[in-house]
Formats: sequence, C-alpha cells, structure tokens
Amino acid sequence: MMNKINVAIDGPAGAGKSTVAKAVAARLQYMYIDTGAMYRALTWKALNTRTNVKEESKLVELLANTSIIMDKYGQGNVYADNDNVTEAIRSEAVTANVSDVAMHPQVRKQMVLQQRQLAAENGAVLDGRDIGTVVLPNAELKIFLQASVEIRASRRHQEHLDNGLPSDLEFIKKDIERRDKIDSSREASPLLKAEDAVEIDSSNKSIAEVTDIICRIAEERIQSHDHI
Ligand code: DC
Repeated sequence: MMNKINVAIDGPAGAGKSTVAKAVAARLQYMYIDTGAMYRALTWKALNTRTNVKEESKLVELLANTSIIMDKYGQGNVYADNDNVTEAIRSEAVTANVSDVAMHPQVRKQMVLQQRQLAAENGAVLDGRDIGTVVLPNAELKIFLQASVEIRASRRHQEHLDNGLPSDLEFIKKDIERRDKIDSSREASPLLKAEDAVEIDSSNKSIAEVTDIICRIAEERIQSHDHI
C-alpha cells in the first residue's frame, strides 16, 4: 500500500498556484484544497450580508454560522451554505476585499482548523499563503511558487479575457502589488517561504513544466515516506 503525503503550495497571487495544484492533484489522484477560495467565500458572504470586513468579531461570528463546502475531487465548486459561489468568489468586489478579511487572526485560526481537518488523512494538495508555515508545518512536500509581478499580472489579465470578463492590465498589476503588500506585511501569518520549501520560479516555465517538477519531487517523497 502506497502511503499518501500532503503537498503544500504557497506563493503570491498569480504565480500559478491553483492551476498547478489542480494538475498535481489530478496526476497523483489526490484531492485539491483551494484555501484562498475559503477566504473568498467568507468575503462573499460578508459582502452579501453587509458585514463590515474590518470588524473581526463580526466576521468570526459570520464564519461560525456559515458552512463553506468545497468539491474536493469534482469540478471545484464552492458553496457558502446553500449558495453555489464558485463564480461569484472571483468577482472584483470579492478580490478587492479578501485581503482585509484574511488579515484577521481569529478568522485565520478558524480557517486553519478547517483546513487541517480537510487534510487530516493525507493525500491532499493545498494551495494558499501559509500552508507550509502554519496550516501543515509537517507537510512532506512544500513548494514556494514565485513569478515576477509583470508575468503574474499578464496571466490574470489573460484569464479574465478568456472568461469574457472586462480587464485592465494596469489595474490588475496595481492590485496585485497592493495585495502582495497586505499579504506579506500582515501580522497574522504573513506570506513567507517555509525554510524547508522548494522554491520554483514559474516566470519562464509552462504549467506542464512546473507540474512535472513538482510531481517528480512528490514521487520521491512518497517513496521515501513508504520506507518510514
Ligand atoms: O489565492 P487567492 O487569490 O484566491 O487568495 C485570496 C486571498 O486570500 C489573498 O488575498 C490571500 C488570502 N489567503 C490567505 O491569506 N491565506 C491562504 N491560505 C489563502 C489565501
């Protein structure tokens, strides 16, 4: 019986984490857990219920009363209670507010507990900002995925165009820089590379290349994990 490992993929917005994480999960036949989608779903709920995203206690209460469910093997649908919010959580309004939601320590604490539960049986690929440092400090494989701001902005821009959404490259670039700053300088688990993470710069690599690199290391780790 092959033992399963957990794969943690962290990095800034637009480095390609979710695309690569999904591909790695499919290849390994693991589940994919998009932790950013959980913060986005709470942000959507807050906007929808007119909850002030700056008020931590209100958000904690809202989170306690909201069930955020994700299809772990299927289409990647995300639900906040009975609403399918898969598309709504990618809106500009949610994107503009999610960093404010994710900066609250008590919100993070609850999210981290839920994320650990989802990954408790191993066999998961998680992407986020604090997976290797806080959520799963013992993950068998940690990846820190980087890319230049220019590349990250142009990828998001293309993604919007592909989805028929309006898009402004300069606006995206500024927004990515603004979010990088909030995510990296916040007090509660800022975006940091774990000491034992493998750093990959995806700027000049295709999705397939990055996926291959990660899967190769994952296979090695799975084998050495089998001997323990
Ligand atoms: O990866 P994303 O763009 O969907 O993430 C949305 C926001 O949530 C982003 O501003 C960073 C934050 N986030 C976080 O703080 N911790 C995580 N584990 C995942 C996302």
